[in-house]
Amino acid sequence: MRAPYWVLGYEVNGKLFGKRSNDVFKIDGVRFYTIFEDADTKVLKRLKDAAKFGDLEIMDPNEIIPFIAAQLNSSISLLTLLKRIQHSICSILSAEAASILVHSGDHLEFLVTEGGASGKIESIPVPMESIAGTIFLEDRTMIFNDLMKDKRHFKGVDKAAKFVTKNILGSPIWTGEKKFGVIEVLNKEGGFTEEDAKLLEKFARLIGRKLYSTITGDRMKKLIKEIVLAITSTIDKRDKYTHEHSRNVARISVMLGRKLRLSERELEDLEISAMLHDVGKIGIPDSILLKPGKLTPEEFEYIKNHTVFGAEILSKLKHATDNMISGALEHHEKLDGSGYPYGKKNGEISLFGRIVAVADMYDALTAKRVYKKEWTKEKVLNVLKEEAEKGKLDRKVVEKLEELVKEGAL
Ligand SMILES: [Fe+2]
Repeated sequence: MRAPYWVLGYEVNGKLFGKRSNDVFKIDGVRFYTIFEDADTKVLKRLKDAAKFGDLEIMDPNEIIPFIAAQLNSSISLLTLLKRIQHSICSILSAEAASILVHSGDHLEFLVTEGGASGKIESIPVPMESIAGTIFLEDRTMIFNDLMKDKRHFKGVDKAAKFVTKNILGSPIWTGEKKFGVIEVLNKEGGFTEEDAKLLEKFARLIGRKLYSTITGDRMKKLIKEIVLAITSTIDKRDKYTHEHSRNVARISVMLGRKLRLSERELEDLEISAMLHDVGKIGIPDSILLKPGKLTPEEFEYIKNHTVFGAEILSKLKHATDNMISGALEHHEKLDGSGYPYGKKNGEISLFGRIVAVADMYDALTAKRVYKKEWTKEKVLNVLKEEAEKGKLDRKVVEKLEELVKEGAL
C-alpha cells in the first residue's frame, strides 16, 4: 500500500520507515510523521494496519515536491499558502525555519517566514551583501553550513527575531525571465547536504511562476481597492462626512466578519461591499444631500433611495456578488422591519447587510460631525446594544463589536 505524499515516515515498535518530521500523529501504536500540522487523521487511521505490518510504502522526498507545488493552484490566500508550503519544506528537509525573500530595489524583503522568526522580521530590509543577497546575485543554490565564521551572515534579522541561525540552504527563485527572490531554509541538525540542495532547487523552480502571477493578482486587487476608495471618499466628502467614513466602515466590517469566521473570499467581498455601501448617494441631488436645515419628510424619503441606487450601480458590475450588492441595499434595514428601503425582517436581511449596518452606525456615531461632537466608544456601544435589545440590530454582530472595543482593536 502506498502512503499519500504528505506522510514522510512512520514508526512501529521502535522501527522507523521513511523519515521523521515535526508533525507527529500517534495512532494505535503507530507514530506517523507528516508534512502538515493539520494532516487528515481519518486517512492515517486507515493506513495504520498496513503500517503495523510494515506494508506501507513511503514516497521518495524527490517525488513529493510536485504534489506540494500543485497546492499552489488552490484558492487560499497567498499568505496562508506560502506559510503552508514553507512548513512542508521545513518538514521535508528537517529544518527549523524557512523564508521567502523578494528582491526590491537595492535590497531583499521578507515576503513570508515560517518558524521561530515569523512575524518579527518581515519589515527588516536585508542587504545584498548578506547570504540571501549572495545567493540572489550569484544565482545558484548554495549551502552555508558554518555561519559562525561567515562574515556575510546578516545578524540584524537574528537579533530582531531572537533567533540563532546556524546554517542556511538557499536557492534563487525565477519567475520566467525575471529573477524574483530567494527561498531559504535554516538550521538543520548536522548541516544541509547536496541532496537537500537539489530538492530545494527543484522546489524553487516550481513555485516561481505561480508566485509571480499571484503577486501580480494581489497588486491588481490593491489597485482596484484604491480606486474604489478614491471614489467613495469623494462621496463621503460631499455628504459632509469625514472622508474616512467608507474606509472605516470597510475596516470595521472586515474585523467583524473575521470574528464571525467568514472565509477569506467572503472577507474580500465584504470589504468591497462596505467600502461602497453609500455609493448610491451619487444619485441624490445636492439640494437634498447638502441641505443645511432639517429635511422635509419627502426629502428624507428620497434620501432612502441611496440604498436602491447603490444596489443598482453594483448589480451592473459583472463581478459583483449578490452578497456585495446586499451590503449596499440592506445596510439601513432593521431586523424588526422598521428600516428602509423595503422594511425587510430577520432572515430576509443578509449577513453582509447586518454587518455593514453595525459598522456604519458605529463609525457615524463615534465620528465628529459639523452638527455634533464625537461620542465616546462606550456611549456608542451602549446605543448599539440597546438597538440589539430592541431587536433592530443583529445581537451577534453587536457582541463581536463589543469584543473588538474591549480588545482595543477599535
Ligand atoms: Fe447609508
